[in-house]
Amino acid sequence: MAFENIVFEQSDGIAKITINRPKALNALNKQTLLELQSCLAEVALNTAGIRSVIITGSGEKSFVAGADISYMQPLDPAGGKTFASLGHKVMAMVENLPQPVIAAVNGFALGGGCELAISCDIRYASDNAKFGQPEVNLGVIPGFGGTQRLPRLIGKGLANELLFSGKMIDSAEAERIGLVNRVYPQEQLMEESMKLAAMIASRGPGAVRLCKESVNNGMEMDLNRGCAYETDLFALCFADEEQQEGMSAFLEKRSPKF
Ligand code: CAA
Repeated sequence: MAFENIVFEQSDGIAKITINRPKALNALNKQTLLELQSCLAEVALNTAGIRSVIITGSGEKSFVAGADISYMQPLDPAGGKTFASLGHKVMAMVENLPQPVIAAVNGFALGGGCELAISCDIRYASDNAKFGQPEVNLGVIPGFGGTQRLPRLIGKGLANELLFSGKMIDSAEAERIGLVNRVYPQEQLMEESMKLAAMIASRGPGAVRLCKESVNNGMEMDLNRGCAYETDLFALCFADEEQQEGMSAFLEKRSPKF
């Protein structure tokens, strides 16, 4: 897949998507969002070849410094709505992709960049990464899901502090409040993200996919309904040869072949 503003790479069952607009610190304009949309649609169709995904930014300064302010500045309300709808569509595609998605946050993750990171399933960050929702400095609110996903991820009080103040926090603080899973020196970030992506890619792909579905859909349910939903998905696993292979391999004291 060839694009102008993103780079797509694929090897050993792992897809790597790099947002590549270094001159604008990888800010998301309409074209970049459209490219992400078609790239993610292709990835979603290729569960046989792609078992885990990494999203990162190019360079060592920025993951994504937000939605593109130059693009947004002249918009009217209808234009704002169209742009936010496109952004929401892309974030939902990331969130609902059949394969797990790791955000390798290699620098600024601000506004739409923080929203992209929190749409991913897992976040690893470099030690120079900075997070924030600075939209109130621009006279707007987050438009790609920040007011919705951030409180769900880190809790309402901590999310409100970031959303209302527009302040930036460093990666150590982001780790402390559960906004990122782990922090690594910049030079180790991709290696560690790849290691995790490879570990996920080595597991039963159908089971990993159902785990993601169970967590994502279950989070929208009360506990009883969520547990009933998990029971159904657990039962579904027994209709797949993956379950036979996984359990037989254990009993035969060998590695499973998924
Ligand atoms: N949109 C468009 N261009 C951006 C950008 C953005 N979000 N962020 C950075 N850039 C551009 C700058 O305009 C600059 O371009 P020029 O060289 O042509 O002037 C270039 O990237 C480098 O940026 P800086 O010179 O500002 O770099 P810095 O190191 O001094 O500062 C920064 C880095 C703190 C990240 C600063 O660039 C910044 O504050 N950027 C904006 C962050 C922001 O407000 N993001 C939220 C956007 S709104 C949003 O995302 C809404 C939504 O939810 C949908």
